[in-house]
Amino acid sequence: MSTPDILIRPAEPDDAPEMARLIDMAGGGVYEFLLDGLVPGMTAAEMLVPGLAGSSGSFSHRHSGVAELGGRVVGVAHAYPVDWIKTEDYSGLPPDRLAHLASFNATQDWGSYFLSALAVDPAFRRAGVARRLLDWVYGRARTGGFDRVSLHVWADNPAALSLYASEGFHEVARAAVPWHERLPHQGGSILLRRHV
Ligand SMILES: CC(C)(COP(=O)(O)OP(=O)(O)OC[C@H]1O[C@@H](n2cnc3c(N)ncnc32)[C@H](O)[C@@H]1OP(=O)(O)O)[C@@H](O)C(=O)NCCC(=O)NCCS
Repeated sequence: MSTPDILIRPAEPDDAPEMARLIDMAGGGVYEFLLDGLVPGMTAAEMLVPGLAGSSGSFSHRHSGVAELGGRVVGVAHAYPVDWIKTEDYSGLPPDRLAHLASFNATQDWGSYFLSALAVDPAFRRAGVARRLLDWVYGRARTGGFDRVSLHVWADNPAALSLYASEGFHEVARAAVPWHERLPHQGGSILLRRHV
């Protein structure tokens, strides 16, 4: 399948609900792990919407590119300078959940441009949408003066590993995030890097 009509463009505030759905998917359960139960009656994806719709902070839509088809958002890439993580305020999150992910946050390619989320709607996969979103991210990284893009991928996500290998990403390190019944990944998280 090929989808030439897909437009890759900077995200806008109104895209936030669709972006949240996709970014939640990209996390492989990490947002549910961190956020579930914190705001009664709200799903993790719903809790992501205000930050994405806003214009400040690393989670803002200003750091996202979206793939649009027929007026609908079918893919998203979210990326920003990885050093911003050092200044994030995680004080609203449960300390035990953060502690479980400590190796993830510590295993970073400081100084790089960080792809924090990439996802494509299941109905539009294998059509080159992720590749086009990655191209958009490489361009943003270069424009920002960065020479490389880094990202984390769960070791048990073969589709994403295959995509990143075909795009020339290489393993830099592994974060030994332990298996957890609410975050049941095997093999931890792999830090990958590619020069741009
Ligand atoms: C991983 C993901 C973003 C790929 O999106 P996509 O738009 O389908 O990817 P593309 O069509 O651009 O694929 C480009 C290449 O990646 C590889 N690839 C993508 N999906 C693959 C799969 N399911 N199995 C094997 N290889 C795959 C192939 O080499 C593919 O090229 P080809 O189709 O010519 O063989 C998508 O499967 C997804 O959203 N998954 C859920 C969220 C996720 O895991 N995000 C990554 C978090 S790190």
